[in-house]
Amino acid sequence: MKKDITQDILEEWLENVRPYAFDGQVANYIPALSRQNPEELAVAIQYLNGESVEAGYTDATFTLQSISKVIALALALMDNGEDYVFDRVGMEPTGDPFHSIYRLEKTPGKPLNPMINAGALAVTNMIHGDTPDEKVGRLLSFIHDLTDDHTIGYNPEVASNEFETSFLNRSLLFYMKQHRIVKGSVEETLDAYTKQCAIEVNVCQLARIGALFANGGRDLESGRSIIPKHLARICKTFMVTCGMYDASGSFAIKVGIPAKSGVSGSVLASLNHFGGIAVYGPSLDEKGNSVVGLKLLELLSNRYDLSIF
Ligand code: DON
Repeated sequence: MKKDITQDILEEWLENVRPYAFDGQVANYIPALSRQNPEELAVAIQYLNGESVEAGYTDATFTLQSISKVIALALALMDNGEDYVFDRVGMEPTGDPFHSIYRLEKTPGKPLNPMINAGALAVTNMIHGDTPDEKVGRLLSFIHDLTDDHTIGYNPEVASNEFETSFLNRSLLFYMKQHRIVKGSVEETLDAYTKQCAIEVNVCQLARIGALFANGGRDLESGRSIIPKHLARICKTFMVTCGMYDASGSFAIKVGIPAKSGVSGSVLASLNHFGGIAVYGPSLDEKGNSVVGLKLLELLSNRYDLSIF
């Protein structure tokens, strides 16, 4: 049914949301991100049967930022098992901004979920690897498997920019180290996390990742299992409950598709029996979500009845 979204239709819908590109602001707290062009918009849909459609400036590459949290979670779960991971990171939405430190004092030290920064930092700490580069290398190999594209790497300028300015993330890590949620060196975990966030992709590669999650963790062509199905399900559930941070409730009502945003202005959506959708539009709303990304997903969901609810 959903294959009704053709190339022409997607191009038309992207033009419909273009005016929203100026409604928000490009992220400026990581200096390299502030240079993104708000008019650079792109969208791709990867269907489960292998077909895909795309529109806009699809050559644009952008960093995953918080979208990497879903992928890192899948790898940490595969490395350590559910019990180990969820002893250290919770499963509940917060209703707080993504970088909030406030709730850590109450738990104490255990982040409420793996999609907020505190939880994601703890997850990166759990990925197997003796050095930051080994962890990031393993994460990149995992992404190469997910996309079937071995060219994907991280942007060193964005990574070092964030590493140098990431005082709040350092604070979250020190707090969690005090409470024995994270182990080892805070600087090394932050090094791995900022490189993870700086992994660079385009919308077509990102839509493939969404499709693989939608396909129960199996490669679309070969059928090879890359993420165990029950772990892919856990990741998609977090996308519903926490993927848009303190906008997850309204997003579930307006769009109803498991999705994760990143401050580069990208959104990854994954819909069972359909495929993956990736949108890039660097302008962010006040909660750090892509204005164009949210609007386009809302329009597509309503028009093509894509909500899971
Ligand atoms: O840790 C940070 O602040 C960024 N590297 C990622 C934050 C992010 O993408 C939040 N999402 N909307």
